[in-house]
Parts: sequence; C-alpha cells; structure tokens
Amino acid sequence: MNITLFGSTGSIGRLVLEQLLELGHNVTAFTRNPDNINLTHQLLHPFKGDILDQSDVFNATQGQDVVICTLGMPLLDKSKLRSHGTKNIVDAMNKANVSRLICLSSMGVGDSHTLLPLKYKHVIGPLLMGRLFADHHLQEQHIKQSELDWTIIRPGSFTKGDFTGSYRHGFTVSNKTAKAKISRPDVADFLIQQLDNDTYLHQSPSISY
Ligand SMILES: NC(=O)c1ccc[n+]([C@@H]2O[C@H](COP(=O)([O-])OP(=O)(O)OC[C@H]3O[C@@H](n4cnc5c(N)ncnc54)[C@H](OP(=O)(O)O)[C@@H]3O)[C@@H](O)[C@H]2O)c1
Repeated sequence: MNITLFGSTGSIGRLVLEQLLELGHNVTAFTRNPDNINLTHQLLHPFKGDILDQSDVFNATQGQDVVICTLGMPLLDKSKLRSHGTKNIVDAMNKANVSRLICLSSMGVGDSHTLLPLKYKHVIGPLLMGRLFADHHLQEQHIKQSELDWTIIRPGSFTKGDFTGSYRHGFTVSNKTAKAKISRPDVADFLIQQLDNDTYLHQSPSISY
C-alpha cells in the first residue's frame, strides 16, 4: 500500500515506520526535519512539511491508500497541535479522496476515562494530563465528525518494554482490569494490524495489558 505517516519520527511513529517498510509498503514519512528519520530504504519517501501547513499536508496525502497519524507533543504543551493538525489531515484526505485513517489517541479520552486505574483517574490525570486529554478529545471529534473510514487507537501509558504481542484491546467501558500500560512495540503492532482488519472500523478501541 501507499501510506502517509504523520509523526514518523516520534517514539511510536519510528517503530511503525520500520514495520511498514519491512512489510513492503511505500511510506511517505512526514516530518519537519527529514534528517531525524535516520533510516534509508527504497520504499521510504521522506516528506519535509509542517502539519499546520494545509498545502504540505495535502501534498503528502495525495495518491495514498492509507493515512496513519501518530502526532505528539510534550505533556504540558498548549498549542493543541494534535487537533489542529488532525483537522488538516481530515480536510486533506477529503480533498484527495483518501478514505482510510488510523490515528493514535490515548486511553483516558472520552468514555475510556472509566477504564483508568484510580491513580490515573484522580491524581496523575488531573495534575498532568488535562491538556493532553483535551487535545486528543478535539482530535477525535474532528475524525468522528468526518465520513472517513477511521480507527482511533487509545493506548495506555507507554512503557520501555519489548514487543510481547499479548496485550488486550477493545475493553468495554465497565472493565476495571486494564493496567493502562503498554509497550511502544506493542502499540505499533496493534496499529499496523488495523491496515488489513476492519474489526475496529469507526471505533476507538483502548489497548493495554
Ligand atoms: N507517552 C505516553 O505514555 C502516551 C500514552 C498514550 C497516548 N500517547 C499519545 O501518543 C502520541 C504519540 O506519542 P509519541 O511519544 O510517539 O510522540 P513524540 O515522540 O513526541 O513524537 C511527536 C511526533 O509529532 C511530530 N510533530 C510535532 N509537531 C509537528 C509539526 N508541527 N509538524 C509535523 N509533525 C510534527 C514530530 O515530528 P517532527 O518533530 O519530526 O516534525 C514527531 O514525529 C501522542 O499524541 C501522545 O499523546 C502517549
């Protein structure tokens, strides 16, 4: 497939990028600084652009089969870059007639707030994660209000662990057993699996151990 990856240099994006290339996909890797990709591959097409620039986003989206978004910002950032950037992605996909979008959000957003263990719900969340949750919430709204074929993935907190392949996903809202933790390679694995799986079309599954 031809795939554009927004967030290609991030802690999740770079893992997704490596796996997409290994699987033989043509990847347009969007970044403000292609030097940060640190990888060469015949199927890799670095694309220098800013997610806040609508024409950059459109040019990177044209002619693609799938768009993946793993954009991120520091915890206390106030710019709302994820939501502004995702609005540009949705508009670009509509204009370019590209329908499949897989986007990373976070456990704790929307109805997945009930899944959080107490320390996240009542301490870490209110103290540190309000802006992050609010930005992801807006990001999700832009996607859910679109007519795209979207899947939103809500991972728990990232760990430094290795790939396990034995994580859980699609928790019901009353489930109290999610650990709200998952390794980055497992997040990347679940994201890649959505490429040829429609189980979570128009859904926002949480993933966690
Ligand atoms: N950390 C956690 O425990 C956790 C848990 C759940 C969910 N999440 C969410 O997962 C997402 C991804 O996290 P991460 O750790 O992979 O993020 P990250 O390492 O901070 O990467 C951020 C990515 O966003 C890109 N970006 C930032 N500003 C940009 C701009 N103006 N134009 C284009 N690209 C821009 C960066 O690209 P360049 O700098 O190369 O341009 C980079 O590739 C985040 O939204 C985060 O909220 C995190």
